Amino acid sequence: VTDTPQPDLRQRHDGIWFRLIADTLPAYVAYIDEHLNYVVANRMYQRQFGLPAEAFHDQPVAKVLGTSFENVRHHLEAALRGEPQHFETRMHSVEGDRYLSVTHLPDYDPDGHIRGLIIHGTDITERRRMEDTLKLSENALIQSEKLAAVGKLAASISHEINNPLEAVTNLLYLARQDAALTAETRGYLDLADRELARVSQVASHTLRFHRQSTRALTIAPETLLAEVLTLYSARLLNFGVRVHENYARSCTLTCYESEIRQVLNNLVGNAIEAMRTGGDLYLRSQPATHWTTGRPGIRITVGDTGSGMSLETQDHIFEAFYTTKGINGTGLGLWISRRIAHKHRGLLRVRSAENRGTVFSLWLPLALEASADIPWHAEIT
Ligand SMILES: Nc1ncnc2c1ncn2[C@@H]1O[C@H](COP(=O)(O)OP(=O)(O)O)[C@@H](O)[C@H]1O
Ligand SMILES: [Mg+2]
Repeated sequence: VTDTPQPDLRQRHDGIWFRLIADTLPAYVAYIDEHLNYVVANRMYQRQFGLPAEAFHDQPVAKVLGTSFENVRHHLEAALRGEPQHFETRMHSVEGDRYLSVTHLPDYDPDGHIRGLIIHGTDITERRRMEDTLKLSENALIQSEKLAAVGKLAASISHEINNPLEAVTNLLYLARQDAALTAETRGYLDLADRELARVSQVASHTLRFHRQSTRALTIAPETLLAEVLTLYSARLLNFGVRVHENYARSCTLTCYESEIRQVLNNLVGNAIEAMRTGGDLYLRSQPATHWTTGRPGIRITVGDTGSGMSLETQDHIFEAFYTTKGINGTGLGLWISRRIAHKHRGLLRVRSAENRGTVFSLWLPLALEASADIPWHAEIT
C-alpha cells in the first residue's frame, strides 16, 4: 500500500488542479496556437463571450472576438513574432463593453520556436469609469471657472454702462414730454424707451447681485410679495390672472430684503409670462424645516396654472442665459435667484407639468448665518 498516486491518477489530479486554478482566477486566461486558433479558455473567458468551453476548441480568434478582433490583431501578430505585448483595449462581451488590461506572451517549444500565445486579461472597466467621472468633474470645474470669469466681466460692463443708461433714460423721458412731437416720433421714442428698459434690466440683474448687500432686515414674506404684485398689477390685469394669497400668520424671516424681493420678482414675473391667456397665481408662505438639516425656516411658494415646462427645459432653467423667450428673455432670472437662495443657505426648487402649470418653492432659514457672504459666482449645488 502506498500513498503515491499511480501515474495516470497523478496526471488526472494535475489536470483537475490546473483547471481549478485557471477557472477561479479573476482574470481572462486563454491559450492560442500559432495559427490564431483557441486551444483552451478559462471560465471567465468563456463567460465574457457567453460560450461553453467546447466552443473554443480550434476556433479562430477572429471568429470569437468578432468586431473586437481588429483592436487586438496587431498585438497578436507582434506576440507571434516574439514580442510580448501589454496593452489596454475595449472588448464587447455578453454583458456589454468591457475595458481590459491584456498581456500576450509567446510560448516556445523546446527548440525555441513559437508554438502559441498565452493570453491574460484583467477587467479594468470600473477603473476606467472612475477616470471618466473624474474627467467629467474636472470639465465641470473648468466650466464654473469660465462662468465666474464671464460673470465678473458682465458685472464690470454693467457697472460701466449703468450711469450713461440712467442719463439716456432721463433724457428720453424729457423728450417724450414735448407736446409738439409727431405721433411717429413719439412711437420711436416709446420704442427706444422699451429697448432701453431691457438693457437696464440685464445690467441691473448682474450688477445688483454683485453689489455687497449690507442691509439684513426682518420682514414678512407677504410684505415683499405685496410690493412685487404692485409692480405687476398692470400685467396681471391685462393677462386676466387671478391672484390667490395664503400666508401663515406671524411668519417672518431675516434676509437681505432687496435680494429676496428680486427672487420673488423673478418668480412672479415668470409665472405671469407663462399665463398670457389668463390663469391663477398662487402665493403662499408657511413655516417649514429644512428637509435634511431640520433647520427652522420658511417656505414661500409661487405657483401658476400656465404653460408648464418639459423635463428637457427643466434641466436647464437654472443655467445662465438659458431662456425660451427669445429676445424677450435674458435667461438670468432663475440663475441669479438660485444663487441668492444659496447665499442665504436656502433652496430654490421647481415642480412643473407641461400645459398644467409650475410651482417654484423657495426655502429660507429664519435667521441669516454670519458667513452669508459667499462669492456670487460660487458654484453650489
Ligand atoms: N413659471 C414658469 N412657467 C413656465 N416656464 C418657466 C417658468 N419660470 C421659468 N420658466 C422657464 O425658465 C426659463 C428661464 O427663466 P429665467 O431664468 O427667468 O429667464 P427668462 O425669464 O429671461 O427667460 C424661461 O425662459 C422659461 O422657459
Ligand atoms: Mg424670467
